[in-house]
Amino acid sequence: MTADPLLAELAKALDSPREALWLLDELGDVAPGARREQALALARRRRDGEPLQYLLGHWPFRTIDLLVDGRALIPRPETELLVDLALDVLSFAPGSAVVCDLGCGTGAIALSVAVEERARGTVVDVLATDVSRGALALATRNAERVGAMSVTFLEGSWYDALPAALEGAITVLCSNPPYVAPGERPRLARELDFEPVIALVAADGTDGTPGFAAVETIIEGAPRWLAPGGTLLVEHGADQRAAALACAERVGLVARRDHDDLAGIPRILEARRPR
Ligand SMILES: C[S@@+](CC[C@H](N)C(=O)[O-])C[C@H]1O[C@@H](n2cnc3c(N)ncnc32)[C@H](O)[C@@H]1O
Repeated sequence: MTADPLLAELAKALDSPREALWLLDELGDVAPGARREQALALARRRRDGEPLQYLLGHWPFRTIDLLVDGRALIPRPETELLVDLALDVLSFAPGSAVVCDLGCGTGAIALSVAVEERARGTVVDVLATDVSRGALALATRNAERVGAMSVTFLEGSWYDALPAALEGAITVLCSNPPYVAPGERPRLARELDFEPVIALVAADGTDGTPGFAAVETIIEGAPRWLAPGGTLLVEHGADQRAAALACAERVGLVARRDHDDLAGIPRILEARRPR
């Protein structure tokens, strides 16, 4: 497959030529004498289940490349759709739009919106929150990395992180909260053991829907924080569509739609506060 013996050795150790290429590329600056040892150490960690993204230390999300480590969830491709939906809504929003990303992790959603809106020549006010200090520290570094220093980061549990002045003022409220039920976790891929539990697992909803509590909290709070006509976009688990739509209806949100992700799996609730 290749003339580079180290690449061949790594590909065999990982049983993946593609991952071997990525890891070796990451070691491009390492002195030749230390390269083999470091490459094989990474291969061992990979074989022990550590996600490739954490080993590389960065990962692309839409147009940006984000630092990733064990303090935050690795941004998933399905969340890219949530950003598309946010940008669609913003393209029809009047000036001075406010976007809020609750539970920002690496900052994937908030930073993408800030960077892509700027590229369109539009300035939006973007806020990003998380209850995890580690995640916020990582997101702040990512803001520097992608040149989105205008994004404001706030610490606190869901809406508690927001200043009262934002009540009734948010144009687009985005969130990809944890939505895995505690009982489901042991059945998940081994790689997920390396991601923070707080980023993955949520209690059951009040209606008994497994893992729905955080999604429910976000939907329930949306009418208070959204501007009239403002949009909520919240990612949820594959089996949570009915609960999400019912919850949105119960709290008086309108124009409720639920989007499938690219794999055809129910994934994102879109709902509006009435004008
Ligand atoms: C599924 S991860 C999503 C991270 C990021 N938004 C993304 O899409 O990659 C959920 C995030 O919610 C945060 N989180 C969990 N409980 C929270 C709470 N009570 N208040 C605010 N954020 C919370 C976690 O720390 C984590 O960063």
